[in-house]
Amino acid sequence: MEITPRPLFPSVVWTTLFDDRAVFNAKMLQLARQMREQDPRGVDNSNVKGWQSPNNLQTLPAFEDINIRILQVCQSIAQSQHFKPNLAYHHQAWVNISPPGAFNQIHYHPNCHFSGVYYVSLKAPECGSIYFRDPRVASRMMTYPIEKMTDFTAEEVWMPPEEGRMYVFPGWMEHGVEENKSDQDRISISFNVLATPKR
Ligand SMILES: [Fe+2]
Repeated sequence: MEITPRPLFPSVVWTTLFDDRAVFNAKMLQLARQMREQDPRGVDNSNVKGWQSPNNLQTLPAFEDINIRILQVCQSIAQSQHFKPNLAYHHQAWVNISPPGAFNQIHYHPNCHFSGVYYVSLKAPECGSIYFRDPRVASRMMTYPIEKMTDFTAEEVWMPPEEGRMYVFPGWMEHGVEENKSDQDRISISFNVLATPKR
């Protein structure tokens, strides 16, 4: 007897690794540090003990390169999911500088189709991982008596950070970032993307 599993309603995280990450990240690192120098207070959000810039990278010409890449990656994912043609893609992006001891509380990003993070500089794995929580976890009646976790039984999934890697996920997917237990800053750029009909 053959029993065939068929995933229903999969929650997807897409990932890509930039080929020119060494050169690109050196530039992004410099820009990130400059931004903090200009605004040492930053903004408070899900970041604990970390610095976060305002959500305004999309308006800053110095960040044009990463802004274009964010939109290219998300448009490509949208096409793979048969989004309508002729949509306008809007985004907001911000810098995170998380020193040792910093972490991000679990949260989600409402009112956007995609959210994501791009890793600029860090020491893995000590810097901590982003983790995602099963959106259906609240409706689970029982835990499974398992000896090893599978994609089906997992309630949380950790994705390893890597300099030059981008993760993209649906805005509704709850996520957090573990404490930075390394001896250096974990620097990343986060973003939200919304596709709307062109006027
Ligand atoms: Fe987030």
